[in-house]
Amino acid sequence: MRESDERETPPLSVAVIIGSTREGRAGERVGHWFTERAGGRTDLELSIIDLIDFDFPAHYPAGTTEQIRDFTERVDRADAFVVITPEYNRSFPASLKQAIDFAYDEWQTKPVAFVSYGHSSSGLYAVEHLRSVFTELQTVTLRNGVAINLMDERWEDKGRAADLMLDQLGWWGLALREARARRPYVSSVS
Ligand SMILES: Cc1cc2nc3c(=O)[nH]c(=O)nc-3n(C[C@H](O)[C@H](O)[C@H](O)COP(=O)(O)O)c2cc1C
Repeated sequence: MRESDERETPPLSVAVIIGSTREGRAGERVGHWFTERAGGRTDLELSIIDLIDFDFPAHYPAGTTEQIRDFTERVDRADAFVVITPEYNRSFPASLKQAIDFAYDEWQTKPVAFVSYGHSSSGLYAVEHLRSVFTELQTVTLRNGVAINLMDERWEDKGRAADLMLDQLGWWGLALREARARRPYVSSVS
């Protein structure tokens, strides 16, 4: 980015979604590691959406609730997302699916990047399932992400993979933010 562009471009609003709410979750450590790494950047303004902070109803309600509104408003305000997901039985956790399904239009035309973790597959099966869900929501999912094998004691060395992913998320986030400002997205047949 040219220096003059950098001065004129407000930072991209990136919501980091921590998807595990399991008691004793590793998600907290992974989330902390990632936000520490990303926090030093001036091109991105991070906000954390930690699903443990939400008290969503057990049954999908007929009407909305304050917690659901809070979640969807935070999704709406973001220009881009990093989803931090563990792998449970070759997929992503129910807590994450429940939250994703509360928003719809708010996701549309925004980029989504993934930080996944688990055992030998490093959460990559979970990411493939998430790609399918986020395609339905008309987002752009990034090819490059961070995949962590928690059994590898040196997983925290993956900082450069996180940097590349964030550079690419920034590129897509700015491109799509500008596109949304220029013209409405065509989301159905006219
Ligand atoms: C119900 C359950 C199913 C799991 N299934 C897988 C799996 O299919 N593949 C894998 O690599 N790890 C699997 N794991 C290991 C988790 O990815 C690992 O425990 C991770 O720490 C879970 O994230 P969390 O601690 O933030 O909840 C599973 C863990 C749980 C609790």
